[in-house]
Amino acid sequence: MSMVEKTPVTAALVGLGWWGRKMARLVSAGGAEMRFVRGVDPNPDAAAFASQMGLQYSSDIGDALNDPTLEAVVLATPHSLHREQIARVVAAGKHVFCEKPLDLTRAGAEASVALCHDAGLVLGMGHERRFEPPIAEILEAAKSGRLGPLLQIEANFSHDKFLGLDPSNWRLKADQAPAGGMTATGIHLTDLAVKLMGRASDVRVVCENLASTIPQGDTMSAHIRFAGGGTAYVSATLATPFVSRFAVFGTEGWIEVRDKAHVEAPDGWVVTEGWKNQPIAVREVPPAEPVRDNLRAFARAIRGEADYPITGEDMINNIALLEAIVRSAGTGALEQV
Ligand SMILES: NC(=O)c1ccc[n+]([C@@H]2O[C@H](COP(=O)([O-])OP(=O)(O)OC[C@H]3O[C@@H](n4cnc5c(N)ncnc54)[C@H](O)[C@@H]3O)[C@@H](O)[C@H]2O)c1
Repeated sequence: MSMVEKTPVTAALVGLGWWGRKMARLVSAGGAEMRFVRGVDPNPDAAAFASQMGLQYSSDIGDALNDPTLEAVVLATPHSLHREQIARVVAAGKHVFCEKPLDLTRAGAEASVALCHDAGLVLGMGHERRFEPPIAEILEAAKSGRLGPLLQIEANFSHDKFLGLDPSNWRLKADQAPAGGMTATGIHLTDLAVKLMGRASDVRVVCENLASTIPQGDTMSAHIRFAGGGTAYVSATLATPFVSRFAVFGTEGWIEVRDKAHVEAPDGWVVTEGWKNQPIAVREVPPAEPVRDNLRAFARAIRGEADYPITGEDMINNIALLEAIVRSAGTGALEQV
């Protein structure tokens, strides 16, 4: 490998809120093969953080897009801004990593994927769960056939971190963050579900408000059917303490992964597995830093070292499912994807 290929990708970080700050600190700690040189956020409070991290601060993304030394832009902004910001980044000829969800509609996801593809630019997505070592093991066990044909997924990713937010916060707006915890946490589970089971065909959701006044509901579950057979049951609650559990069942075995802590501060995993004719086994997996590893995969794709593992097709399948989940959360009816 030449020295040129090892040069870290030079990027701007747009959105210096909760998640942007997590990414800024991780990238500065090294290992992401990326370097943030600019930070963008209209909130003037973000200027001090940018300066502390050694980032050139601006309140508007335009300054970053006009900087010819930047190769990539990482978006950690409210969901409703993603589509327009991706279009602007692509128009400036830069690679783009977008936090989840890519969009709230299939049409929007298709447009963003097509823009990046047609421009020959890498589109990264904040689905770091794929980079959690025990989840990567599940993906590999499914791909290699070790699990046998897949039958079902059961998953829950919930927390109550948003209960104390001011009601004016975008995360508590039904139009910007619809369907209970779906866009906050559930979207990671459906990303894994469509990766494992393929395109979804229909979904029925129950979304209730049981313990708060959160306008999009605080407790949702979705029962998803896949075009190729099989089902997933996915829950995302905004009113219970942190839990993250993902289980996949095949004819040869099943694996269940529980996170010991939120990915904000990873603390390892507990994996329980059952294989045909073997006793059920439980083991611990030590902490890792999947958010950094996802950014590194993005950087490596930019350098042409490996394809970025989350494909445009996966991204569109996931957002098409999200769109149907949001519809079903409103109607309570079975909705086609
Ligand atoms: N991958 C994960 O596990 C994970 C975890 C948390 C959040 N996220 C995602 O990160 C994104 C941001 O979420 P958050 O929790 O950090 O929200 P946040 O509200 O804490 O931060 C968003 C920031 O964007 C800024 N912003 C608003 N408009 C902007 C604009 N036009 N240009 C630049 N910045 C602008 C806000 O001022 C704010 O500082 C969301 O898409 C969310 O889903 C991902």
